[in-house]
Amino acid sequence: MSAAERPYVLGTGADELARLGQQHRLWSDAAVRAWRRAGIAPTHRVLDVGCGPGFAAFDLAQLVPHGAVVGVDESPGFVAHTHTQAQLRGLPNLQAVVGDVHDLAPALRGQAPFDLAYARWVLCFVRDPEAVVAGVAAQLRPGGALVVHDYFNYGAMTMAPRRRSHDLAVAATIRSWRERGGDPDVMARVPAFCAAHGLEVEHLQVHVRAARGTDAMFAWLDTWWRTFAPKLVAMGLLAQADCDELFGDLAEIQRDPTRFVQCPSVYELVARRR
Ligand SMILES: C[S@@+](CC[C@H](N)C(=O)[O-])C[C@H]1O[C@@H](n2cnc3c(N)ncnc32)[C@H](O)[C@@H]1O
Repeated sequence: MSAAERPYVLGTGADELARLGQQHRLWSDAAVRAWRRAGIAPTHRVLDVGCGPGFAAFDLAQLVPHGAVVGVDESPGFVAHTHTQAQLRGLPNLQAVVGDVHDLAPALRGQAPFDLAYARWVLCFVRDPEAVVAGVAAQLRPGGALVVHDYFNYGAMTMAPRRRSHDLAVAATIRSWRERGGDPDVMARVPAFCAAHGLEVEHLQVHVRAARGTDAMFAWLDTWWRTFAPKLVAMGLLAQADCDELFGDLAEIQRDPTRFVQCPSVYELVARRR
């Protein structure tokens, strides 16, 4: 099986859906700040690139009550969840479409140009992130903005004090993404993709967060490992004994307030179409 044919590495099951909801809750403050920095307005048309089960899209739809949000994701289950929740939450201006973000045109046929596009934790999983950036740029009106949150220097995620089990799990994670065509350092390349496809980068920053066991942010890492480490074991990239050791080390952080985790570095970029 080639990298392009392998199923999406994180999966789209109920555990991953719940994890994405929790992750959004913990990162929604940064998301809203970035959208406002990009100039989101109530009439805007917003494209959510790789929208997953819609957690960012629900917030976006509330911020553009006189505009529209269109989410695109390859997972029919996530798209169906977005639709159902949009109805339950009273968000008629939100629609989601099944599609491949490498080729947005079929999914967005008949759509007017967008004022804003958001791509969070998607470029790191796709085989050709430059094609995605180029396709998104083509969907933006001149003056429209692309906001990205994604990873660079993923290997810097660590427990403090360092733990063997955690270092092994981070290395296995990087391998699992790369073997499926992803790139956990993708943000190193995104500014150049923007420059090559008519987008001017006007803002770049990094969010580096540290979490002790008592911090709400610790749930991000704890849930991440509890959902993904068993998948690494199933992929043959992490030994069961090392997974068990990792869970023990996570429990130790919760017991010991002198320990902490350095979370993965989330880069934020705002680029505007010339
Ligand atoms: C980590 S999730 C992030 C979801 C959402 N952007 C968020 O921040 O909550 C990555 C999403 O990208 C989607 N995805 C991965 N490759 C894709 C592709 N080639 N085309 C469309 N969606 C893709 C997955 O189905 C998944 O929903």
